[in-house]
Amino acid sequence: MEKFSLDRDWKFYNGDFELPGTKTHTECYMAAKAGGAIGAASPDFDKSDWETVNLPHDWAVYNEFEEKWGPSQGYKKRGKAWYSKRFRLDESDRDKQILIEFEGISSYATVYLNGSVIGRNFCGYNSFVVDATDMALYGDQVNDLVVFVDATQIEGWWYEGAGIYRHVNLYKKNKLHIAHWGVFVHPIRKTVDVWDAATDTTIENSSYENKNFRLKTYILDKEDNIVGKDEKEFSVAGGSKIEVNQSILTYSPLLWDIDAPNLYTMVSELYENDSLVDSQKNTFGFRTIAINKDKGFFLNGRHVPLYGTCNHQDHAGVGVAVPDSVNEYRIKLLKEMGSNAYRCAHGNPNPEILDYCDKYGILVMDENRNFNSSADGIKQVQDMVMRDRNHPSVVMYSLFNEEPLQGTPTGRKLAEKLQCEIKKLDATRFLVGAMNTGVTTDGGACDILDMTGFNYITHTYDDFREKYPDMPMLGSENDSAFQTRGVYKADHSKNIIDCYDSEAAPWGNTYRDGFKQVDIRPHIMGLFIWTGFDYRGEPTPFEWPSIGTQFGIMDTCGFKKDAFYLNKAFFTDEPMIHILPHWNFADGEEVRVMTHTNCSEAELFLNGKSLGKKNVDKYDMADWFVPFEKGTLKMVGYIDGKEVCSDEVSTANAAKKIIITPQNEFVYDSCDDAVIFNISVVDENGVSVPTADNLIKFTADGGEIIGVGNGDPNSHEADKAEERHLFNGLCQVIVKQSDGAENVTVTAASDGLESATATVKSVANENKKIFIPSVNEKYIAKWRQAVDLSETRPDPNVKIEDHDMNTWGIVSVGSGYDDKFKNITGYGLYKTTVNINENDNFIVFRELTGNEVEVFVNGEQKFKGDCQWGRNVEINVSDVNGDADIAVIVNSTKADGNGGISKPVVITD
Ligand code: GAL
Repeated sequence: MEKFSLDRDWKFYNGDFELPGTKTHTECYMAAKAGGAIGAASPDFDKSDWETVNLPHDWAVYNEFEEKWGPSQGYKKRGKAWYSKRFRLDESDRDKQILIEFEGISSYATVYLNGSVIGRNFCGYNSFVVDATDMALYGDQVNDLVVFVDATQIEGWWYEGAGIYRHVNLYKKNKLHIAHWGVFVHPIRKTVDVWDAATDTTIENSSYENKNFRLKTYILDKEDNIVGKDEKEFSVAGGSKIEVNQSILTYSPLLWDIDAPNLYTMVSELYENDSLVDSQKNTFGFRTIAINKDKGFFLNGRHVPLYGTCNHQDHAGVGVAVPDSVNEYRIKLLKEMGSNAYRCAHGNPNPEILDYCDKYGILVMDENRNFNSSADGIKQVQDMVMRDRNHPSVVMYSLFNEEPLQGTPTGRKLAEKLQCEIKKLDATRFLVGAMNTGVTTDGGACDILDMTGFNYITHTYDDFREKYPDMPMLGSENDSAFQTRGVYKADHSKNIIDCYDSEAAPWGNTYRDGFKQVDIRPHIMGLFIWTGFDYRGEPTPFEWPSIGTQFGIMDTCGFKKDAFYLNKAFFTDEPMIHILPHWNFADGEEVRVMTHTNCSEAELFLNGKSLGKKNVDKYDMADWFVPFEKGTLKMVGYIDGKEVCSDEVSTANAAKKIIITPQNEFVYDSCDDAVIFNISVVDENGVSVPTADNLIKFTADGGEIIGVGNGDPNSHEADKAEERHLFNGLCQVIVKQSDGAENVTVTAASDGLESATATVKSVANENKKIFIPSVNEKYIAKWRQAVDLSETRPDPNVKIEDHDMNTWGIVSVGSGYDDKFKNITGYGLYKTTVNINENDNFIVFRELTGNEVEVFVNGEQKFKGDCQWGRNVEINVSDVNGDADIAVIVNSTKADGNGGISKPVVITD
């Protein structure tokens, strides 16, 4: 198997086209045929003035915030759009299977290849694969992959973005191959030390002959040592598939755990007659999971309370088109907080997020979007499970979230069907539904899955436990508390909320109360806080001019609110203490000072003087009211009377200098990945200025600025810009690395401040992506051709009768000599109509072959010549505008088989 990236150089049209309609019977007839798509889906459609974009791409994030588009999708217009990528496949690919994998398109997508639909996917969250083998063109001929995206469809009540917002990959496989997502490794612990890395591999034979094969499967550890293997021989009938089950014993593997996320690679090699015809590598881990009605969740036999967050996909500046490194940055921040679980709200996430959860040791609730058991709905859960079931991080699948039908018999049936479809593919994960009502209603979906998920409704915890004492319980969504980063005085008239954990949604709890409700009930296996990061859309608790939520423990840039430390205190044991607020207030003003700590006592010092030591309540924390006085405020944490940690804040003077803090140590060269630069300002003593709001201007070298943000939920500044105001002292710029640049460098400047520059090195990546280049020419692919050769020279202006499908065939030219000239001499006539616009100057026949060939444009002879050895012919059409009739007469007098429009015809400028 070879994997390529199709992320680069797509043509993009933001909007839709009215279908041209079919004026004549012939046009209608042709439009009804394979390859006959009309309008923008047709390879002949002029796409030369479409914008060039790279993926991941979210077109909605470029739009302005406008109140008329409504709160849920963040006041951004979505709409419909077209994408097209023209590319070549090698001649040697002709006998391969060609698959195209879309990791995610928002929302409804129709995929065409060379004028035929090759796939449809009506969900913005699942990855899906289309088989391009049959419609693909090879060698000199160009493929036109067209995707129509309808993002007027709504699947969420949050910002969903619009477009091909995740990666697109192309796979080339031998006809006898390992199926896509066809390897499932599900290790079983046999004894304390012995594991069976049970592996089910689907072998697919897309040729039409029966095949014998040998499957060799082996496990590599981190150092590439083989630590287990198995081989099996089978045969598979033509056009079918077979599942091979292998038992691969392994001794004392290093377990995958949240604290030690050890990973292994399963290598699957497929041999036909001793030659390797396909291979795949899949990462997996050895670990056990269990749930218990009384104690909750167990990982490798150890009780692990789930300290999770729910997260939507968007990030500041880039919307839902999130570069891989930005997803990694987000997962690392959650890990740093001590969070050990991630809920992909409310849909199947970017596959890269799961890779990072595997890598950093975070347990995942993988979530399905649509509660629907139609063929489409079932395919969506199947895509989720097939794609994700090797990730050791994935420990549960969620089938639904807060569905009005969840407590009804209909909801029960839907859940039963989806549960059954999932268990057929993966019976090793637990299934849950996230419920906000109906948890104690008979006949609904609350008691048929492996556990019951509670969204908020903490008041029902005990009633449920009484009614269903054997049902494991999970806080699937908790809190919905509010904070505006850096704000310590709420002002609802300005849509801002303080960071003392004082406000939560009416259906939710403050962070402190929410944690307590779960923590005091050891049978509840954990919680998933709504949310790890602020997100765009569903602006809560305020609407316009707020454009995003304030639920996040971090803002949309990943800047920490105080809630980060509060939850860290709940989630971790290593002594830590955080002091809030900052220390810039008016002299004498009474300021509430609070501690977020896992210590049992805390003592506050102002300018070296103790303001008292207090016991810290595990949930409520401790606070002091202090008249403001310039200087340094220090909080010291004690356990068993011993000082174990401290934190301090100092008063900042006026901002003097910009500080840039890159968030990546390096960036991979030529991988389209990005670097995050966080910006702050300091005074003359290097103290951060927490209230600064300067406008910062950026320039980048070695990369392109792809987004800016500052986490302000009320800001309407553009995401795509080279400047941004600081919001409470911070802003962010994201820069995509340019191929071959040794460094990515950002300079940040602002009037009256010392500017700053920061550099991140590019390093070579041995697993570099291979990008398939685009071809920017317009192809004249479809022609009509007189079915029979004639003995006498035909009239190039002959009119093709509208109903005549019999003496005139529909042909696709350009892939070699025309069979018609084999063994027969005579005249062949080809005709087509093309649209020539003002930028088009030449029609290029890459090769015309025949003893004499003539070319006519609108009846005028433009070329006549000897082409018996094949000849490239360029016709100047700079004086033509609009629809033009093209006719080609090929006279072959040799009957040697060499005649016709033997290579592609293109229009160039
Ligand atoms: C839940 C819902 C989430 C989000 C949240 C806000 O009811 O599942 O998607 O809307 O409320 O508090």
